[in-house]
Amino acid sequence: MAAQVVTLPPSMRWQDGRFWLLDQRRLPGEVVYEEQASAAAVAQAIANMTVRGAPAIGIAAAYGMALATGAGEDRERAAATLIAARPTAVNLAWAVKRMLAAADAVAEAQAIHREDAQMCQAIGASGVQLIREGCTVLTHCNAGALAVSALGTATAPLYLAHAAGTGFSVFVNETRPALQGARLTAWELTQAGMDVTLICDSAAAHLMAQGEIDMALVGADRVTANGDAVNKIGTRGVAIACRYHDVPFYVAFPASTFDPETAHGNDVVIEERDSAEVTGSIPTVPGIRVRNPAFDVVPAELVTGWITDRGLMTCPGELAAALQPGAARCM
Ligand code: MRU
Repeated sequence: MAAQVVTLPPSMRWQDGRFWLLDQRRLPGEVVYEEQASAAAVAQAIANMTVRGAPAIGIAAAYGMALATGAGEDRERAAATLIAARPTAVNLAWAVKRMLAAADAVAEAQAIHREDAQMCQAIGASGVQLIREGCTVLTHCNAGALAVSALGTATAPLYLAHAAGTGFSVFVNETRPALQGARLTAWELTQAGMDVTLICDSAAAHLMAQGEIDMALVGADRVTANGDAVNKIGTRGVAIACRYHDVPFYVAFPASTFDPETAHGNDVVIEERDSAEVTGSIPTVPGIRVRNPAFDVVPAELVTGWITDRGLMTCPGELAAALQPGAARCM
């Protein structure tokens, strides 16, 4: 199914012991793959957002561990370098720890990649019934094929609904400052033939007030034990606006994004990124002080439903039982 509905270039390629990443910073203008020669190079590519999106950085780190293993490097040191590249998305540490426990590094990295695609498909199946004929969906950042693999997470229900012939439209928040919505989601969904409208992040609440948005659907970098969702900066504002305007707010993510060991979203380290991301493309005062938190926390109480590869859940208590390692699938 994935191959039929997503025609994007893959975010990464592994072939015969060599590894390439699609440079997402150059999209949609240029499709350029950069070879990554070592785990350190992969860590740098994760930090500078050549590759980004929680599941994708986990998969890239897994291939980074395979490179380190192949080169006879100290695996523990490579693991530490990769995990330190970005602090917020739990998928990164999840994948690296899994690689440390693996006997065959290449086979394990490929298994993580393959399973990710399967989880996207299952997320789509869990959420597709929410996408009703004629509805309008708001999304924030990019939780699509570029950020994951195959169908993406928040985009998976959209891809499956579109493939089934459901007519719906999507408002894409541009997602300041790195513009993952404007550059990546708009590109991805337009190429798939969906009805897409780009908006400034600050326009979303207004459109809700006008009755033009039926639901919000976003991804997550980490979902904590209590159901709090940590996602791209601006997501919290979307969720608050949804509650005020009585618009359902859904979070889509795979089991690898669930962190049962962290109790609350407020316990998660929120990455602060370089000020140049904020000031680089806009006229402003030279030397102005800047804050650039890259993520924020949506409290569980603002989430209508958690769309996972193990089903659609409507109360946080269901998450731990369904998403713990080894839990039975409920689909
Ligand atoms: O800084 P980014 O681009 O890595 O942030 C990505 C997001 O916040 C996504 O919404 C999240 O990783 C989910 S991707 C399936």
